[in-house]
Amino acid sequence: MIPTIPVNEPLLGEREVEYVMECFRTGWISSAGRFIDEFESRWAEYCGMRYGIAVSNGTAALEVAIKCLDLQSGDEGIIPAFTIISCAQAVIYSGGVPVLVDSDPRIWTMDVNQIEAKITSRTRAIMPVHIYGHPVDMDPVRTIAKKYDLRIVEDAAEAHGAEYRGQKCGGLGDISCFSFYANKIITTGEGGMLLTNSAQYAEKARSLRNLCFRPERRFYHTELGHNYRLTNLQAAVGLAQLERIDELIARKRRRAAAYNEGLRGVPGITLPVEEPWASNVYWMYGIVLDEALGYDAVEFAQRLKKRGVDTRPFFLPMHQQPVFHAMGFFQQGESYPVAERLGKYGLYLPSGLALTDSQSDCVCDAVRSELTG
Ligand SMILES: Cc1ncc(COP(=O)(O)O)c(C=O)c1O
Repeated sequence: MIPTIPVNEPLLGEREVEYVMECFRTGWISSAGRFIDEFESRWAEYCGMRYGIAVSNGTAALEVAIKCLDLQSGDEGIIPAFTIISCAQAVIYSGGVPVLVDSDPRIWTMDVNQIEAKITSRTRAIMPVHIYGHPVDMDPVRTIAKKYDLRIVEDAAEAHGAEYRGQKCGGLGDISCFSFYANKIITTGEGGMLLTNSAQYAEKARSLRNLCFRPERRFYHTELGHNYRLTNLQAAVGLAQLERIDELIARKRRRAAAYNEGLRGVPGITLPVEEPWASNVYWMYGIVLDEALGYDAVEFAQRLKKRGVDTRPFFLPMHQQPVFHAMGFFQQGESYPVAERLGKYGLYLPSGLALTDSQSDCVCDAVRSELTG
């Protein structure tokens, strides 16, 4: 059997081990300790935001972020159709209604030209999601948000260190959300964080992640919250990872450059791009098959698997999710053709930080051979 080149592997080093061992030695293994505080403040500083609130994963970060906005039942949040379910469910769990926009065909993030047409008297928020490491075109989003007095909740889970016109993703909205799952550029195993410049949102997020204990009297509650706390052990890993983020991003960009070179001119696929106003961190190196090939990404993934290359399909758009149809969302024959095409024909190649040059050469050979016969 051919050994498979994995789609992702984290890169963990001695510093991570050292910091985790410090937690064990000192006994700070739960959700208080120096690593939590340092990870929160250093990540906020890195992204150019004032407050960091660490949580147990990126899905929790989105849920807490939307809860900070105090939506009324039926208030609307505009999200991309092409994203992970965490975005839509964060709006729904707050009593809101997710409203979708299609994707930009070049960079696969939300098509910012479609946002304004979706605004109603119930719209409260826009959630730009930086997809696979490429930033959303944020200036138009910010202009619309200002015009209609909407909050921006930025989902930067896939875009650690990516830049929009020289500013870090995650520093561009009212609240930003991150995931530190094992496949993210910096990881804590499982983990997430919210960032904000608002003292009020920060206080509310801290309360929501910790069961809404009231400061004046423990075990006294005026609101329901969650236990979404991150542990000091996880933050220890995160801090060590953050100390080497420049190296990790450089690896991602080098790998993308190698793929761009190795796949240049291969017929039947579109490669990822980087707009002149963006610094793409290529969290995952995605490709989209031409429809004319006559097969979809599932079939192509099976073919690559036989050649020893592991891949992952792109997101399946939100309006194609049975769970939402059953709940009465997106039933009106809504169509988002770009998101649908990405969902059907898109997949990402092995993009892990531990991927070697010879492995990425093998991936390019496999893709080229498959498509050129
Ligand atoms: C864009 C985006 N948002 C949110 C999440 C959710 O993060 P988590 O898996 O940590 O809950 C992910 C996960 O990969 C993601 O890709």
